[in-house]
Amino acid sequence: MKFFIDTANLQQIKEAQDLGVLDGVTTNPSLMAKEGISGAENVINHYKAICAIVDGDVSAEVISTDFDNIIKEGHELAKLDDKIVVKVPMIKDGIKAIKYFSGEGIKTNCTLVFSAGQALLAAKAGATYVSPFIGRLDDISTDGLSLIEDIRLIYDNYAYETQILAASVRHSIHIIECAKIGADVMTGPLSAILSLLKHPLTDSGLAQFLADHAKAAGK
Ligand code: G3P
Repeated sequence: MKFFIDTANLQQIKEAQDLGVLDGVTTNPSLMAKEGISGAENVINHYKAICAIVDGDVSAEVISTDFDNIIKEGHELAKLDDKIVVKVPMIKDGIKAIKYFSGEGIKTNCTLVFSAGQALLAAKAGATYVSPFIGRLDDISTDGLSLIEDIRLIYDNYAYETQILAASVRHSIHIIECAKIGADVMTGPLSAILSLLKHPLTDSGLAQFLADHAKAAGK
């Protein structure tokens, strides 16, 4: 399973990249705003800075909601770097735009997906990635992970090549369950990725090993 980090924070992207397990980055307008990035030029420069840090795909979201402007914005984003994936919302003009970009060989990420039907449409339009938001479904007392299972089944039934990018991942259980189901990618915050490191028996075991080593060395 590929690991993407879901942030526009350059320090956190660097930290994940340095760990050696990062396959890409996803951003959205809220994450950009959180870092204080606004204005077309600053946004473009920030995407360039992210692309300079990572090796893999970088999702950059359009803010237009009509076909013509999604296409215009998508072209501007795609020409920034080969790593850029144009992130398009799951709306009618978004699906039309994904189909158009797919014909042009421009990578897309269909975002704000909350149902299997939406995921089916995204695959039929030729999206490179589909982003079901599992944490936000959990937030409204719905089972986000069962949506990932449904999409996996549907995509496998018809050999759709669209990659399931489990998004709105909040913690290590989400990551592990997504890996068991067979999501192609997960995107989450650095804290969720780092939480995979932790086990109390690892900490106590290491402390014991180091203490025994020091004792044997007469320290
Ligand atoms: O990738 C989608 C993500 O940014 C949404 O996450 O935590 O805001 O639901 P969250």
